Amino acid sequence: MINLSRPASLRVPLGHCLRSTKGHGIAVSTRLRAKDIKEVPVATYAKDKKTAQRTVLSVDGSKSDPSPISTKDIQRTATPFDKAVVPSLTPTLKAFLLEGKVAVVTGGARGLGWNMSQALAEAGAKAIALLDVKQELGDRSAAELHRTTGIPVQSYRVDVRDAKAISEVVGRVNQDLGSVDIVINSAGVVDSNIKAENYDDTMFRHLIDINLTGSFLVSQACARHMIAQKTGGSIIFLASIAGSRVLHPQQQCAYNASKAAVTQLAKSLAAEWAQHEIRVNTIAPGYMDTALNREALLEGQKKHWASMTPMGRLGRPDELNGLAVFLASDASRFVTGANILADGGYAVY
Ligand SMILES: NC(=O)c1ccc[n+]([C@@H]2O[C@H](COP(=O)([O-])OP(=O)(O)OC[C@H]3O[C@@H](n4cnc5c(N)ncnc54)[C@H](O)[C@@H]3O)[C@@H](O)[C@H]2O)c1
Repeated sequence: MINLSRPASLRVPLGHCLRSTKGHGIAVSTRLRAKDIKEVPVATYAKDKKTAQRTVLSVDGSKSDPSPISTKDIQRTATPFDKAVVPSLTPTLKAFLLEGKVAVVTGGARGLGWNMSQALAEAGAKAIALLDVKQELGDRSAAELHRTTGIPVQSYRVDVRDAKAISEVVGRVNQDLGSVDIVINSAGVVDSNIKAENYDDTMFRHLIDINLTGSFLVSQACARHMIAQKTGGSIIFLASIAGSRVLHPQQQCAYNASKAAVTQLAKSLAAEWAQHEIRVNTIAPGYMDTALNREALLEGQKKHWASMTPMGRLGRPDELNGLAVFLASDASRFVTGANILADGGYAVY
């Protein structure tokens, strides 16, 4: 059990927020009038969710409220790819097509992985494999993607930490759907609001094992086939803005470290596998409105995250789709080792 004995002392940048202290003392910025100050509740929770600590951020209330936070992922229905349009496309637009390509998407049962899978299908992918620990959801998502787009979509229940199982599943994907051309590593977990001094070592290793080692194992298994078959490919990792800056006010040292490591891992693989025509890149999303962040106790923090983002809101689950298609396709054929932000401007501050 994690013991959070004191409310977090939160400090946020001037111009967005003022200073919050115990007892709600407010250090008034010279740029804000008192009537513009608004208090936003922030909950800090431990893993068992029973030891939440609450505090208050004083934010600039003169700005319009961030978009309301939905209670579940915004769902959209994929549209089937129509081959008939291809001849009329310009060479530039044709380069974005994924015709004939087979994709593996980990964490594809829901969230960002699910949305990017829909996008791959809409861009003409030949077949998609969804790899996830969630059997029922994975099966449902695969059935839905097949129903809406008509392409073969197969769900494989597998834990990305299990090297042997991953190797077997990737072998089966090659047999079932064809040689893999695209890999999106979207399986991931987060532990927020756990103080470093209280971080349980088993939990720390668990997170690193999924976010870092799991992404490596899937990429390695797929790259082995790409190298043996001399087909090349595109591998995409889901890193995060947390990979290059410490997110706050939540304490999440393991997550931040895992995403920094994923970013550097991708660059290393890009260097090693360029000779095999395998490109490796990372997408670094800002805060996205998915189930990963959907905890009742995080709602107050989400308002703070939105206020820290120039666009004033969290990203929608489908707002990485275009970037994923770009990186998966020939449109990015000279792009490798890149870490591309999609964060509503969060990183500009
Ligand atoms: N949502 C955000 O704000 C955000 C921001 C930056 C980066 N990311 C990253 O994007 C990726 C996807 O996040 P999301 O918001 O879609 O999360 P999500 O929780 O909605 O989806 C993650 C999926 O990964 C699967 N998964 C978890 N552990 C697994 C394991 N061991 N083996 C196989 N599958 C496993 C889950 O079952 C789930 O379906 C993660 O790597 C996350 O760190 C998310």
